[in-house]
Amino acid sequence: VKRVLIKKERIMEVDGKKRVISDFEKHYVDPSKDFHTKYGIIRREDLSKESGSVLKCGNEEYHILDADFIDNYKQMARHAQIIGLKDIGTIITSTGINRDSKVLEAGSGSGALGCYLAAIAKKVVSYDIDQKNLAVAKANAESLGLKNITYDAGDIYDPAGITEHGFDVFVLDVPEPEKAIGTARKVLKIGGFLAVYLPNIMQVQDFLKDLPGSFLLEGVVEVIEREWVVDERRTRPTTKDHAHTAFLTFTRKLF
Ligand SMILES: C[S@@+](CC[C@H](N)C(=O)[O-])C[C@H]1O[C@@H](n2cnc3c(N)ncnc32)[C@H](O)[C@@H]1O
Repeated sequence: VKRVLIKKERIMEVDGKKRVISDFEKHYVDPSKDFHTKYGIIRREDLSKESGSVLKCGNEEYHILDADFIDNYKQMARHAQIIGLKDIGTIITSTGINRDSKVLEAGSGSGALGCYLAAIAKKVVSYDIDQKNLAVAKANAESLGLKNITYDAGDIYDPAGITEHGFDVFVLDVPEPEKAIGTARKVLKIGGFLAVYLPNIMQVQDFLKDLPGSFLLEGVVEVIEREWVVDERRTRPTTKDHAHTAFLTFTRKLF
């Protein structure tokens, strides 16, 4: 189990001016091995110290912490393109996924969405057509210790392949979600949500064109996240590229 090693940015006043002496660092470290920093070596016995311990290294101070769910989650192996945290957040809050929810998702991909949902929901069932992606997703769920997610090989466009029903939420991250409407009709409970993740607005149009009257369109959103840099010299959005990820389409089964 990895631990989190953090060093805060160190600022000192030199000739009346504040100077950054050393930068912020964050590492996921294996406490069974020594860790090499540019300021020296931190010994493995120090890396095993109680969470919150301060470790001296040259003139620098590091803090060692136990890894929480989000630390382990961020280290997950990636194979297929994943759904990022900002979009996962909106999927959860728009559909109200909670500890009583039963969720179906496809495709599993790298397991990013599925694993996050499993950490919150009662149960997650995840389908993918590709065995290699399923293996990556499964390994990620295991490494996070998630026991309430099951992975199945299958084509989500084929309703016959999915025997379970009564799902509260069904999330689709596949290229042609309109082909999975038959599945959504079968597996969702009345009032259940179908949430669709699509990178292109034309895919959203294609999806909505075929949406049957038994589904209510709740809305289409794009989540824009702007990180700000806030320190003694600057208070403004970062210059990082705020790339578009996808459009989220939320629908609800009425009958
Ligand atoms: C972009 S990835 C999903 C990423 C995933 N949401 C995550 O957060 O890690 C899309 C996945 O859909 C799978 N897929 C494509 N068509 C499918 C289908 N008809 N049925 C099931 N899975 C499908 C692909 O194999 C691929 O793994």
